Amino acid sequence: MKWQGNKIGYVIYGESHSPAIGIRMENLPEFKLDTEELDGFLARRKAVRAAYSTSRTEEDKIIWKSGFNNSVISGTVTAEIENKNVKKGDYDELKGKPRPSHADYASFAKFGRVDFGGGREFSGRMTAPYCILGGIAKQILRSKGVEVLAYISQIGKAKGKSYLDSVVTAEEIKNSPNGILSGGEEMQKEIELAKNNLDSVGGIIECIVFGLPAGVGYTMAEGLESEISRQVFSVPAVKGIEFGSGFNLAAMNGSFSNDEFFYDGDKVKTYTNNSGGINGGISNGMPVTLRVAVRPTPSIARQQRTVDLIEKKDTVIAIKGRHDVCIVPRAVPVIESAVAIALLDNLL
Ligand SMILES: Cc1cc2nc3c(=O)[nH]c(=O)nc-3n(C[C@H](O)[C@H](O)[C@H](O)COP(=O)(O)O)c2cc1C
Repeated sequence: MKWQGNKIGYVIYGESHSPAIGIRMENLPEFKLDTEELDGFLARRKAVRAAYSTSRTEEDKIIWKSGFNNSVISGTVTAEIENKNVKKGDYDELKGKPRPSHADYASFAKFGRVDFGGGREFSGRMTAPYCILGGIAKQILRSKGVEVLAYISQIGKAKGKSYLDSVVTAEEIKNSPNGILSGGEEMQKEIELAKNNLDSVGGIIECIVFGLPAGVGYTMAEGLESEISRQVFSVPAVKGIEFGSGFNLAAMNGSFSNDEFFYDGDKVKTYTNNSGGINGGISNGMPVTLRVAVRPTPSIARQQRTVDLIEKKDTVIAIKGRHDVCIVPRAVPVIESAVAIALLDNLL
């Protein structure tokens, strides 16, 4: 899977059950990494032994292959992660039977293959190498005074704090265990309920970019919303995105939704931030705010209808493999990565 931006680019290779997965990152500026911090960032994406998480735990140790010397990266940088905890047998009985709403059937339509083993290159596991670039991008951005931070705002029907209702500060997000600002108990209950029902549950992640100066981005397809959305939709299981007040804007009048200006010293600011810090595809100096809808995990233990593509008949499946009941907690650093990658590409 490859992407070429304005300045940087990447190729992600391997698949969920191959010996290793990796990323080749191109055109990175020389930068001294805090490798301990990067390891900590990757650990946030890993499965933890909680009610919601898969029992497939991986070490996710970064093996630097090129472009890395004494923690200093530059140019083309290649990094790999070994897949140690592979259980191929989990998927034997799913051969030819696509999991509803996973990529299995769509990839059969594209490639003609019936071996869906662990989701292959469509697996959420592919977000581990993505987070290597994301973690690097976050560190480079911070050195430029830009902080990208995400948190969980909703799991199923349980709502926590949202920037739509009150101001969310960078400190508040950084000090929040598990990326939840409030409502954690209700969220955990939603996850446990789904688990007990052999089901899964989705949620909403909010992301705020602090410190982005006004004037970054351009218009139409080169606009910041376009570029950020492209990265955010690179994350499997993401099905929606809105900036600022997003879909709520449709029901407002301009007199209410417009973000009026004022001078704060010599800095131009707005009283409200319904636009989510972006006008015309260019940052306006207010925090960039966005909300991302994450679907319930497609693989569930409950019996569901599907087809047998080999026998060409209708059938049923109940998925026994190792799957998250809720992807949302693990997707928080992945969303931070997506936003940081898009912004770094526009700031270099
Ligand atoms: C961190 C992460 C972990 C995921 N884990 C699983 C999983 O255990 N089981 C599953 O069915 N889907 C999982 N997914 C989601 C699927 O990969 C995704 O739904 C699938 O590729 C179909 O893509 P779409 O939902 O974007 O259309 C995960 C996604 C992410 C971001």
